[in-house]
Amino acid sequence: MRTVKWNDEKTLVEMIDQRLLPSEFKIAEFDTYQKVAQAITDMVVRGAPAIGGAAGFGLAAAAFQSSASTPEELRRDLEEAAAVLRKARPTAVNLAWALDRVLNEVFPPLPLGEGPGVRAEELGEGPGVRAEGPGVRAGAGMGTDDLRQAVLTEAQRIADEDVEINKRMARHGAELIDDGDTIIHHCNTGALATVDWGTALGVIRTAHEQGKDIHVLVDETRPRLQGARLTAWELEQYGIPYDIISDNAAGYFLSTGQVQKVVFGADRVAANGDVANKIGTYMLALAARDNGVPAYSVVPTSTVDLSLPAGEDIPIEEREEAEVLALTLKGKQVPPANASARNPAFDITPNRLVTAIVTENGVVYPPFDENLPKVVKSET
Ligand code: MRU
Repeated sequence: MRTVKWNDEKTLVEMIDQRLLPSEFKIAEFDTYQKVAQAITDMVVRGAPAIGGAAGFGLAAAAFQSSASTPEELRRDLEEAAAVLRKARPTAVNLAWALDRVLNEVFPPLPLGEGPGVRAEELGEGPGVRAEGPGVRAGAGMGTDDLRQAVLTEAQRIADEDVEINKRMARHGAELIDDGDTIIHHCNTGALATVDWGTALGVIRTAHEQGKDIHVLVDETRPRLQGARLTAWELEQYGIPYDIISDNAAGYFLSTGQVQKVVFGADRVAANGDVANKIGTYMLALAARDNGVPAYSVVPTSTVDLSLPAGEDIPIEEREEAEVLALTLKGKQVPPANASARNPAFDITPNRLVTAIVTENGVVYPPFDENLPKVVKSET
């Protein structure tokens, strides 16, 4: 079952409601782009590639919501929808990446020199209208119904490719995992964080399928407990042995020689290899480095943002304090009634603490500023 998918009959987006797992498995339905945006903000769907997949289908919902009768009206409606979706969560670059990919595919920008801002559908049969490549393109004479379908086709392609990319990435990453390894994994990077299969957890899954005897220490990942809830739930489905550990136990396990690898995903990787990932990744990578344990970030190239030189340029989402304060023990609220909290959802792990970045195009080692662009542009 995919984390996010399009329901053709009902013309809406379906998502596994991840807020309810593991106690309840429910598929929720979203028939407008506004509802899809809210679902991303509320973390019905979460994890960078899954957010990208949801955003693509959000645009498809917008296309079918729109009553536009001309391509230009439809383009305006879609750009309005993209602006709303783009704001749903700031750190995962896959969100903007997916929106731009769909818009550029359906309304391709003109080649340089053909006049900025002029779109294919305004040109009719003229130059700059792209008609090559697979699938439906917004070419000359395409009506609004065809354009709506083209939005869905591209969103679907993003979702399908995500699964294939994750499996390629997992095969590259699994080569770094040895039989007998104990691995610390942070947050949830599995099928639930992607359209299917997973990034860092996908590597673990593939290594397990290859017959390697591995054990996973699952960081519980305060405050939303993606590790304790979602990663543990997934590992049970796959039959991979694991123990949940509190986030602050990771240093102990690393310093006592009980861990051979640390793996995590990323919501955005800057051009120099600095990694924005779930809060706590930085401390984990520090402890790994101090104990000579390799720390790998596993990401599709769509998560690499070459437009940002360094991690300090990556926007970090700060979520509401209630997520930290809503903590009970024996039925009683833990913090005092008037307590306040800070809740950054991500941190930046500097490139010097990252042993390698695993992508679908291969494993990238430092210097990342030289090697990442080669792999991001590579087609193989
Ligand atoms: O806040 P979340 O649950 O969306 O954060 C998810 C993560 O931090 C993942 O590690 C990241 O998206 C990479 S997983 C594919």
